[in-house]
Amino acid sequence: MTPPSSSPFDLTNPGSAGRGDGEASNQSTFAGLTLPESRGPLSRWVMDWVRGMPADAPTVPFSDPFDDDLQLALYCCYETHFTTLPEAVGEVEWDLDLLRFRRELEWVFELGLRGVIGAPPDHSDVGVAIRAMLAADDGPSLSRFMETNGTMTEMRDFVVHRSAYQLKEADGHSFGIPRLSGVAKQMLVQIQAGEYGADGVDREMHASLFAQTMREFDLDDRRNAYLGDQPGSALAISNLISMFGLHRRWRGALVGHLAVFEMTSVVPMGRYASALDRLGASAAARRFYDVHVLADAEHEMMALELARTLAANEPALACDVLFGASCAIAAEHRFAVGLLRQWGIDPAQA
Ligand SMILES: [Fe+2]
Ligand SMILES: [Fe+2]
Repeated sequence: MTPPSSSPFDLTNPGSAGRGDGEASNQSTFAGLTLPESRGPLSRWVMDWVRGMPADAPTVPFSDPFDDDLQLALYCCYETHFTTLPEAVGEVEWDLDLLRFRRELEWVFELGLRGVIGAPPDHSDVGVAIRAMLAADDGPSLSRFMETNGTMTEMRDFVVHRSAYQLKEADGHSFGIPRLSGVAKQMLVQIQAGEYGADGVDREMHASLFAQTMREFDLDDRRNAYLGDQPGSALAISNLISMFGLHRRWRGALVGHLAVFEMTSVVPMGRYASALDRLGASAAARRFYDVHVLADAEHEMMALELARTLAANEPALACDVLFGASCAIAAEHRFAVGLLRQWGIDPAQA
């Protein structure tokens, strides 16, 4: 059957990059991929369980919320909801033992985040509070460093670290759609349509554009090809969204997180684009960043309005909205610090 000519999607070629299901190029084969080395008892237990090697679950100790072992264990648990993990045996997505263990990991993650973030701010006006949080954020700027001093090797590192989330960009926030109602649901759908390139003719899925950037850098664009190279601070970017998205009770935090994500995108994306220009990267490699400069100029207003709307409709969630916003800032801070230190750069100088 021939698709209608007005369709914005290339229905005749669902595997074409950037149109329709443009993720095909990074999902079509997992051949040769394996799970990485474990980073401690938590990730070892989860990966062994996924491989079909059950054992008694270890105790989950209180730890730094961005701990490598904790984050890899959590990541593997969450990834069962998004894709097929390498080496996975059987149906593990709703395995009760895995879910029970994930819940313990989440408690430690949440508790650790609360310790990092401290007391919640006044939530009588979430829009004002989120803007104030962002204005007060004095974390290092990776994008400013990349724009002025970053090398191509560092840019590739950045892309590899970011790929834990970016190859499934927007999917975690989409879990919030059935968990919202009324206008708030419509607003989230509208933002997500942009993320999936479904908001007009010739738009592209942002995850597909990121895969294209990876290919331009001769990187493997398959999901989890670099899982062994991504530290806890990189995996936490993805895990935070998955945790908020997969729990209805965290729908306020998910929306607050999205607001910060969208509101801190336009300037950094423009800087990464200019870094790639300076480094002589191709237009195809830059496209992911160029598209975000335009798309997120709209999304940042829509996402803040979504946060305001949800808090107005469900005032009991206002505090969670700000918790999610604070967590987004904290996770990005740790991501930047981790990467700068990996490159031998003092984060205070970036
Ligand atoms: Fe996006
Ligand atoms: Fe966006």
